[in-house]
Amino acid sequence: MKDFRAELIKTIPPSGIRAFFDLVIGMKDVVSLGVGEPDFVTPWHICESAIFSIEKGMTSYTSNLGLLELRHAIADYLLRMFSVKYDPKQELIITVGASEAMDIAFRAVLNPGDEVIILEPSYVAYAPLVTLAGGVPVNISLIHGDELVVDFEKIESKITNKTKAIFINYPNNPTGKSFRKDELVRFALLAEKHDLLVVSDEIYGELTYDYDHICFSSLPGMKERTILISGFSKAFAMTGWRIGYAAAPHDVIEAMMKIHQYAMLCAPISGQIAAIAALERGNKDVKAMKKEYKRRRNIIVEGFNKLNLYCANPEGAFYVFPSIKRLPFSSEEFCIKLLNEEKVAVVPGTAFGSTGEGFIRCAYAASIENIKEALRRIKDFLQRHDAL
Ligand SMILES: Cc1ncc(COP(=O)(O)O)c(C=O)c1O
Repeated sequence: MKDFRAELIKTIPPSGIRAFFDLVIGMKDVVSLGVGEPDFVTPWHICESAIFSIEKGMTSYTSNLGLLELRHAIADYLLRMFSVKYDPKQELIITVGASEAMDIAFRAVLNPGDEVIILEPSYVAYAPLVTLAGGVPVNISLIHGDELVVDFEKIESKITNKTKAIFINYPNNPTGKSFRKDELVRFALLAEKHDLLVVSDEIYGELTYDYDHICFSSLPGMKERTILISGFSKAFAMTGWRIGYAAAPHDVIEAMMKIHQYAMLCAPISGQIAAIAALERGNKDVKAMKKEYKRRRNIIVEGFNKLNLYCANPEGAFYVFPSIKRLPFSSEEFCIKLLNEEKVAVVPGTAFGSTGEGFIRCAYAASIENIKEALRRIKDFLQRHDAL
C-alpha cells in the first residue's frame, strides 16, 4: 500500500514538548514544571454562567464570527485595558483558542513562498503553522550568551522582498520576556519601512508583572497592519474552553472568516458564554492569579540564581528560561537525567528552536510547595554531578 500522507506534513517535526512528556507519562512522584497551563481552575462564576446557559438550552452553533455579545465585550475590554479600539462587527473573530486564530491568520495572508520572521526561542506552533500555510519561517535567534537581546539590525538584515510578516509574541513562551515601548516602536518602524504585516500573539498580555502591557496595534499607524491574537486560556485559566480571538483590519478578518467558516464553523457556544462572564466579572480573579504568579516568579528566579544557573528575571507569562550552559550536558540530556534521577520535569530549550540549546524552560504555573521541592531536587542533582 502506498504512503497516503502529504509530502508537506512529513517535513513537520512533532512538538518537542509532547515528545518529552511521553517520557513522563506513567512515572510516579514527578514534580512537574513542564506544563504551560495555569494550575488554577476556571473561576467558579465563569463556569456557572456556562452551566446556566446549557440549562437554558443554549447548545447551538453561533454566528461564524462568534456571539456578537462576546465581540462587543472583547472590543470594550481591549479599549479599557489597552486603549485600542476595534469594531465588534467588522474587526473581530472568535476562534477555537489562539491556536486556531494563528492558523487561519497565516492561511489568510500567506502566498506560497512568503517569508515570516519568527523570533526564537519561540512557542512550538508558529513555524509549523507558517509552513502548513505554504509560507517559509525565517527564524532569528534572540540569544546572546545567557541573555535575550533583540538585535534590530540583524532582524532587518533578514528582510527580503519575500518577507510578508513579522511574528512577535510578548510576554513570551518560553522565555517570559516582554517588550517595552521603545522596542515595540522599533518593530513598528521596521514594519512601516518594509511594508510588513505584524502578527502579534499577546495571549499573556494580562500577565505582565513589572510594567503595563502595551498592545502592538495601539501604536500609531500599526492597527492597519497588525493581526492581534489573544484568548482566554492563560490569564483566565480557561485552556479547556478553547476560546481565542483575532482582531485585525476588516479585509483580513473577512479572509480569516472564509477559512474558519468551512473548517470550524464557530467556536463552542458554552465557551463563548463563559468568555463573556470572564470579561464582565473576571478581572478580580485575574488580579489574584497574577499576584500569585508574581510571587512564584520571584521565588523561582532567586532559586535558580542561587544554584548558579543564570536565570533572567522574566517580565511576564509564567515561564523562566534558566541557562544550563555551565553544565556538561545538552538541554535534552539535562532534562532526561533530571527526570530519571530526581523526578523533576522541565522542558529542554531546544523544544523551542535550536537556539534554545543550553537552556531549560520551567513553568511556574505550579504551587509554591512544588516549585520549592523542584528547586531542592535540582540542587541535589547538581551536587551529585559536582556542579554546585
Ligand atoms: C504563546 C502562546 N500562544 C498561544 C498558545 C495557545 O493558546 P490557546 O489555548 O488559546 O490555543 C499558547 C499555549 O501554550 C502559547 O503559549
